[in-house]
Order: sequence, then C-alpha cells, then structure tokens
Amino acid sequence: MAVGIFDSGLGGLTVLDAVQKRLPDVPLVYLGDNAHAPYGVRDADDVYDLTTRAADRLFQAGCDLVILACNTASAAALRRMQEAWVPTDKRVLGVFVPLIEALTERQWGDNSPPREVAVKHVALFATPATVSSRAFQRELAFRAIGVDVEAQACGGVVDAIEDGDMILAEALVRSHVDALRRKMPTPEAAILGCTHYPLMQEVFQDALGPDVAVYSQANLVAESLADYLIRHPKMMGPGEASKFLTTGDPKRVSSRATQFLRRQITFEAA
Ligand code: DGL
Repeated sequence: MAVGIFDSGLGGLTVLDAVQKRLPDVPLVYLGDNAHAPYGVRDADDVYDLTTRAADRLFQAGCDLVILACNTASAAALRRMQEAWVPTDKRVLGVFVPLIEALTERQWGDNSPPREVAVKHVALFATPATVSSRAFQRELAFRAIGVDVEAQACGGVVDAIEDGDMILAEALVRSHVDALRRKMPTPEAAILGCTHYPLMQEVFQDALGPDVAVYSQANLVAESLADYLIRHPKMMGPGEASKFLTTGDPKRVSSRATQFLRRQITFEAA
C-alpha cells in the first residue's frame, strides 16, 4: 500500500516529512531525480520526459498513486501526463491545487465558480520553468477573481540547496525578495512555489517581514493526500516498504538528505 513521492532532487523531502507525520502508517517510496536536477531551467518537453520516466519507476516500485512533490513538474508536465499518459489504474497528482485551495479559502475539491477572496496581492516565488508556465495563475483564475500575482523566478536557489551551500541560498533568497518588492512593494501573501524553498522559509519570512503570510506546501499537501486516501482507499498501491531512491549518487544524496531532515536518511540507487 505504498504511495510514491517524486521530486527532481531533495526539495520533495519537505513534503515527504509532512506526509510521514500526517500518515505514519502509509509506506512511502521517495524518488529524487538528483542526476537531472535542477528541473527549473529545463524546457517543458524535457521536464515531461524526465517526470514520466520517474513516475514509471515509482509504479514499478508498487505505487499506484504518485505525488509530484515538485512544482516544476506539476506546472510543466502534470496536465499533459493526466490527459495522455497515466494508465487508467494509476493516479498522478500535483502540489499546486492544495496550496491554491488554502489561499482562496476553499474546501478540498470545491469546484464552484471563481469568486472574490480576502487576499488581493500575492507574491509567487518559484523556479524559472514554473514561472514561465503560468500554471499557478491559471489554477488561481479557476478559483478566484481580482487577485494580483507578481511572480519572481528564483534562479540559482535550487542549485545552491542541492549543493548544500546554504549561505549562497540565503543571499539569493534575499536578493529575489528585493527584486519582487521592487515590482510589488506590499504583498499580503507569499507563496513558496518550489518544494526546496521551505528549507529557506525563515529567510523568506525575515526578508518579507512579519506582515506577509508565507504559504508553504508541505502540510497542505499532506492534509490533502490524507483526505484523498480516505475518499480513494484503493489507490494505496501494493508496495509495502518505505524507501528512498535516487538517480544520483546514493552516498552523497543520503548525506545531504540527513543534513536537511536532521535524521538518518539512506538512499539507494533507483
Ligand atoms: N523542487 C522543485 C519544485 O518544486 C524543482 C526544483 C528544480 O529542480 O529546479 O519546483
């Protein structure tokens, strides 16, 4: 009954951690495509090819349901996968919708027409590929009207985090927040639209100031998955053991992952 969690690299561990806390009895198979990270600078076809390959690997590992814990893959590949690729007995879900439902104060799966919401000025921080896909704005427009979104492509942050260079990551986050503020001086809410960014959440909050509500995805995705599994219990796949797979060097990836989650994480080759 395993569920698959996929990310281009280590960022999806923030989602895995929240899911493990919310659903401690569900075996999780994590796949990090570290050999090909970052995805945020790749074009949509490339992200699609890599993401379908990874989802297939997770199906083989006994997962019938795969969460793309990667905004870039969710933005650039998910719709195409759902329309033409996902086998009928499998499901692939992304991470945008739970976040947008929270921002627009909707219950899960509420598909009523778009309406006015309290928040009017939203800053989106994401990878260049996610920003250029405009998937966030599209999903938001299905649910809310009158929301002004200013997106900031945060080049370099994912590479710095994957390399474990948190000093560089912090400097880049501060400069991206400054750049955003030049375009939108007083956002009410900020979306961390990349699963790597919760690892820098305190820096984002500090740079944005206490009046900006910072939304990050991990807990929202975990709640949404718990709700989904209650509604679709058959989507727990046949896999029984939790494991961590990587397309990169398992030793190096295990050591970074252990540093991020502050507990021993052991990856094996995918
Ligand atoms: N962590 C991923 C995301 O949520 C992708 C980062 C990358 O590979 O560029 O967008």
